Amino acid sequence: METIGTDFGSCNLKTSTGIIVPSKVTKCDSSFFGAEYLVEIEGESHIVGEGEYDTILDKTKKENFLPMLCLALGLSTHEQATRVVAGLPIGQYKSKEKEKLEQMLQDNKMLNFKLNGVERQIIIENSAVTAEGIATYYSLPVELRNGLRNKDIILLDIGGRTSDIALLKAGKKRRIDESTSLEVGMINIYKDVVNKVNSKYTLGLDIEDAENILKHGLEVDGEKQDTEFIKEILMNNIKKVFKELNVSYPVRTAPLLVTGGGGEAFFKAINRRYPTAIMAPNHMFSNAIGYKRVGEKLWRD
Ligand SMILES: Nc1ncnc2c1ncn2[C@@H]1O[C@H](COP(=O)(O)OP(=O)(O)OP(=O)(O)O)[C@@H](O)[C@H]1O
Ligand SMILES: [Mg+2]
Repeated sequence: METIGTDFGSCNLKTSTGIIVPSKVTKCDSSFFGAEYLVEIEGESHIVGEGEYDTILDKTKKENFLPMLCLALGLSTHEQATRVVAGLPIGQYKSKEKEKLEQMLQDNKMLNFKLNGVERQIIIENSAVTAEGIATYYSLPVELRNGLRNKDIILLDIGGRTSDIALLKAGKKRRIDESTSLEVGMINIYKDVVNKVNSKYTLGLDIEDAENILKHGLEVDGEKQDTEFIKEILMNNIKKVFKELNVSYPVRTAPLLVTGGGGEAFFKAINRRYPTAIMAPNHMFSNAIGYKRVGEKLWRD
């Protein structure tokens, strides 16, 4: 049976099958037409991928967990039965959150929903919850993993809302030694950028505009603006990550494995500071792929 890794990020929902959808859910009435993904559960309709970002950090409290789970599995498989592995940041994994998420997956074993009008029934035969950081290590191609075998590895995952750092000790079975979660992520940065731009130019841009400004610069009243102040915002944020790495992790002797959408965005700056940095291949999906591998080890048949 197939195992699907599902990464419920605060910015993007991602699966080991390569599905990526913004972590946004809007309730609507069933006559709504034109959304890319419409998920109907027990008579309630949800548009997934559009609307507001769910700003709750605790992933197990998301009231939108169920529509996102249905979408993730509905888009990932045509089968009626599947296995699912999800993950939590290391800090939450160690606490009660793990049991909560496990319970949520257990309680929603029988999924009955409509995806874009098509009736679906999916049974989750097995489910598990694992830690986010180690998953990226498991997602690495075998050659790369073998090359790192006898080394401690520092993992840095910069996502939408958090930056997670973990030290994976060398050894056959990897374990997490040190770990940190910082509130530094692309959404926080976008927010800082938009606030600054709005106050500086008296505009009403929102967070969705920030990515565009970062990529293409800022034009106001037909004139290109100096965006040096944006570089400052970026540096101020990434510096928090650098500081934590310098203080608590063996950055000069252990390779630094970087992943996440923010990891890619900042990779140049990271690599300049830490020559041992390597970008995880398939960085947007490294957690989801790792979850799948964890499941395949758990349920060998
Ligand atoms: N195809 C893509 N779709 C959406 N965002 C992308 C894509 N490629 C890169 N990005 C970048 O990735 C960032 C989000 O990163 P990522 O998906 O790793 O966060 P997340 O896992 O949802 O958040 P967190 O780990 O904090 O819960 C976006 O802000 C955007 O800059
Ligand atoms: Mg993430």
